[in-house]
Amino acid sequence: MNYIKIFAPATVANVSCGFDSLGFAVDAVGDEMTFTKTAEKGVKITNITGADLTYNIDENAASAVIKKILNTANADFGIALTIHKGFSPGSGLGSSAASAAGAAFGTNQLLGDMYSNLELTKFAMFGEKVACGSEIADNVAAAIFGGFILVRSYHPLEIIKLPVPSELRVVAIHPQISIKTKDARAVLPAEIALKDAVTQWANVGGLISGLYTDNYNLISNSLVDIVAEPARKSLIPFFDDIKNSATKAGALGAGISGSGPTVFALCEGDVVAKAVYKSIEESYKNTGINFEMFISKVNHKGIKIIK
Ligand code: HSE
Repeated sequence: MNYIKIFAPATVANVSCGFDSLGFAVDAVGDEMTFTKTAEKGVKITNITGADLTYNIDENAASAVIKKILNTANADFGIALTIHKGFSPGSGLGSSAASAAGAAFGTNQLLGDMYSNLELTKFAMFGEKVACGSEIADNVAAAIFGGFILVRSYHPLEIIKLPVPSELRVVAIHPQISIKTKDARAVLPAEIALKDAVTQWANVGGLISGLYTDNYNLISNSLVDIVAEPARKSLIPFFDDIKNSATKAGALGAGISGSGPTVFALCEGDVVAKAVYKSIEESYKNTGINFEMFISKVNHKGIKIIK
């Protein structure tokens, strides 16, 4: 194989209660990337469209990952890369993760599928470190494995793929501001009270149980975050209004997507999802802040080969 074009999905990390440990991939939004083998070793970024990203090989999350994999695999070829961003960096939808995960996946295909999804996740985490300073796995694992994932352990890395109830839909609103993950992590508490930890891990258990049993009511009751959301929500204009509009229209729950500013709402079925979309849109229209929205199914497959 000398060429591959892929779709790398946007992802919702944390999913309220699961800070740094839960995530899922979305179907409706993502990046397109092409990888062409070159006789000359190393990585070259030939074109980036859709966002203003660096062409510096060691500072761009995608090229940094490709370089690392090619070196590790001792590859006798190089890669020319193009990236078309389908969504903005700093949106909270795993932009750097889509680039890093897509880079790991595409390079692995040109290498003849040498690495497992777990190994690709580790390579992609390096891209997250390049982009935001932290080797976080929730977004990249969701992009690579697809569906809903749990990062059960970071050391050693263990990713569990969770089931996705068939009627689960996500509605997302991206207020057109940008929040750096680094900044959103800086406002988090260094420690939390034991009683808060109890609430949080009980909700993670509840959410996972709800996913396994198609229990939308349990999913709804468990979509609560008392750790990151209280610290971060002031970074997102009209966060409480979005959340109230979503739940009033029947959403199972709503929260900050990753480090924000995108806010996601989970819904049961298309009819409710459309009503939630409308309700959020109506309330945000009057804020004077530009925004983009989408409705999506959960993406079961993760990264997809286009050609
Ligand atoms: N879990 C991460 C966070 C996702 O909330 O900071 C952002 O990359």
